[in-house]
Amino acid sequence: MLLDGKVVVVTGAGRGIGREEALMLAKHGAKVVVNDLGGGFDGSGASTGPAQEVVDEIKKNGGEAVANGDSVTDFKGAQRIIECAIDTFGKLTGVVNNAGILRDRMIFNMSEEDWDSVIAVHLKGTFACTRHACTYWREQHKAGNQLNGRIINTASDSGLLGNPSQSNYGAAKAAIATFSVIIDREMAKYGVSVNAIAPVARTRLTVEATPATAALMGAEVKEGEFDVFSPANVAPLVAWLASDDAADVHGEVFRVGGGTVWCMKQWHSVGKVRSTQTWDPTELGSQLKAELAKGATTKETMADVFKEGL
Ligand SMILES: NC(=O)c1ccc[n+]([C@@H]2O[C@H](COP(=O)([O-])OP(=O)(O)OC[C@H]3O[C@@H](n4cnc5c(N)ncnc54)[C@H](O)[C@@H]3O)[C@@H](O)[C@H]2O)c1
Repeated sequence: MLLDGKVVVVTGAGRGIGREEALMLAKHGAKVVVNDLGGGFDGSGASTGPAQEVVDEIKKNGGEAVANGDSVTDFKGAQRIIECAIDTFGKLTGVVNNAGILRDRMIFNMSEEDWDSVIAVHLKGTFACTRHACTYWREQHKAGNQLNGRIINTASDSGLLGNPSQSNYGAAKAAIATFSVIIDREMAKYGVSVNAIAPVARTRLTVEATPATAALMGAEVKEGEFDVFSPANVAPLVAWLASDDAADVHGEVFRVGGGTVWCMKQWHSVGKVRSTQTWDPTELGSQLKAELAKGATTKETMADVFKEGL
């Protein structure tokens, strides 16, 4: 099987996209740590129920999994998530940083807590699990045991394209995309690859937290028809990225939804103006306006993605 011998942590795997990722990783032979805090979509509360249910489902299907209820926002908790894999299954080969919450507000209404809690789950949580996993893989590499570690982070179109009312979430997601590129560059020499996905799927984060986005996705389809917005459509990309076959894929960002996977590219220059001396600001302005008018900057929005379809 594609993932025989692999041990993968999936954070936020009790529901939605993470649940489907955990099920598919297990189906293809990986042993899985199913982490989930089990709270509300806004980060409130906690429950061990969702993670355990996914573990039960994996075991029922003949796979191996263990539940963990730590919060990814807790640096020591993140260490326990990583240690749970090593203690239970003897090693760690992959981490899927997927846990997420939403607290959408326009900037003039955004509280400090709305900002901090969203940044904590997405950005700090991704950092914390990545940090402990990379420390382990570097130590193993030094001891002559290269584990070919894989980090798969979860970005979002909200961060890559910019979605109003999600400055906290989008800022975290854009940072996660760049974080992935940076950590890949740091860890490649230890056999580790780091990539990111920007999923599009019908989950409670869309249905409950962003009903306008959910409306664009429509209702679930009839049995037997291809459910384009099913979170299960995200999982194959993650399973492949966690495998040895993806060893040469480094620092990439993919949008994924339905039957489509897009290859995204980082910030890159699309035009320039140049002077051999310090610019006069008025002259600079007129030349920049002319450059921008060439239309070299694309303005893809999240609405365009839905219009084009998956
Ligand atoms: N659904 C989409 O279309 C979409 C689009 C772009 C990005 N994403 C991202 O995909 C990921 C999964 O989201 P989803 O749509 O499946 O939502 P979801 O709410 O169904 O799943 C998120 C899970 O993360 C868990 N979680 C939250 N805070 C946690 C914490 N501190 N520690 C551990 N677990 C925690 C929740 O309990 C929940 O089970 C998120 O990072 C989200 O931002 C989703």
